[in-house]
Amino acid sequence: MKKTVRDIDLAGKRVIVRCDFNVPIDGEGRITDETRIVGALPTIRFLIAQGAKTILMSHMGRPDGEVDLKYTLKPVAESLSAHLSQEVLFISSPVVVDDAVRAAAAGLAGGDVMLLENLRFRKGETKNDAAFAQELAELADVWVNDAFGTAHRAHASTAGIAAYLPAVSGFLIEKEVKFLGDAIEHPRRPLVAILGGAKVGDKIPVIENLLTKVDSLLIGGGMAYTFFKARGYEIGMSILDETHTEMAASLERAAKERGVALLLPADVKAATAFANDAEAGFCDADKIPADRMGLDIGPKTVALFTEKIRAAGTVIWNGPMGVFEMPNFAEGTKAVAQALAESGAVTVIGGGDSAAAVEQFGYGDRMSHISTGGGASLEFLEGKLLPGIAVLEDK
Ligand code: 3PG
Repeated sequence: MKKTVRDIDLAGKRVIVRCDFNVPIDGEGRITDETRIVGALPTIRFLIAQGAKTILMSHMGRPDGEVDLKYTLKPVAESLSAHLSQEVLFISSPVVVDDAVRAAAAGLAGGDVMLLENLRFRKGETKNDAAFAQELAELADVWVNDAFGTAHRAHASTAGIAAYLPAVSGFLIEKEVKFLGDAIEHPRRPLVAILGGAKVGDKIPVIENLLTKVDSLLIGGGMAYTFFKARGYEIGMSILDETHTEMAASLERAAKERGVALLLPADVKAATAFANDAEAGFCDADKIPADRMGLDIGPKTVALFTEKIRAAGTVIWNGPMGVFEMPNFAEGTKAVAQALAESGAVTVIGGGDSAAAVEQFGYGDRMSHISTGGGASLEFLEGKLLPGIAVLEDK
């Protein structure tokens, strides 16, 4: 168990908090999804209530060590000020930490909050540069990591800084680790994992780890076609990850040996082109016409997957069942989201596309937990120790 903000005395202390405010911004500089900001509020509110002097920091996008004001955190400071009903001081320094920032941090009163500029304006951030980590650390007395979405990165603000300050987690990391950790280590059984998304290659480590934990593994999305190919089915123009066909066959064998039910789609919706208005129809998975590509799961698969979900004690879902961004190929993903919403199981949704799908279809508040980390939740499910969590002090 890692120490959290509850385990240390914070009154009057300067506390630097790594959040993941890497939120989507539209062409006019407006935030289009505040989930990650809202996710950080419990920790920030707690720090304010404790009388801490709070210095928030985050990256946004991948500006690669260059100052690019398209990625400024100013809109995040405004959003935070609105949510907290108090001013969040923001200094847009091109070097993130300068004399003005140091003076502002030193001048904070108990309960005040400030936000630093995008950490990735400095090359040292992603390089986990010790000098940059130290510059950040010198602003504060305690480091809190609450950036679950970035916990799989060993960067100056997510890992290196722990060498210079007491290091504890915030409530968001605590909650993410509890839900994701319990789902795979102490699940209510049967434990069902649903995996989707385009590429098998990206999901091999997670499949390998999940095969040692789950009772059933349901595979949909683009990755299913590589499994079909490995079974010898014709897949027409469907997406194929040819380098992983043999691996797909060996994962099916491994599932059988372990007694894990690995379910592939029984039918798919196949289209003449990768376009919403392309001609499309349902066909059995082993009968995809040569001039068509599968872009969604079909109704027989929905029925099969729904039955497994209904009987589950815990469901972990990562990756859409089809090209849900196109309305004509969104039905399968929507139906799975609905089955999860209606099930009595503990439902844990990996971040990224599956989280976006669940929200898009209006089922967000009916899930037990939606992770704020895409890459991070996947690495967690792979069984990896995330660097941003590993460096935190043990209780
Ligand atoms: C994410 O959105 O997954 C995190 O903020 C990490 O961003 P990164 O992939 O650019 O490190």
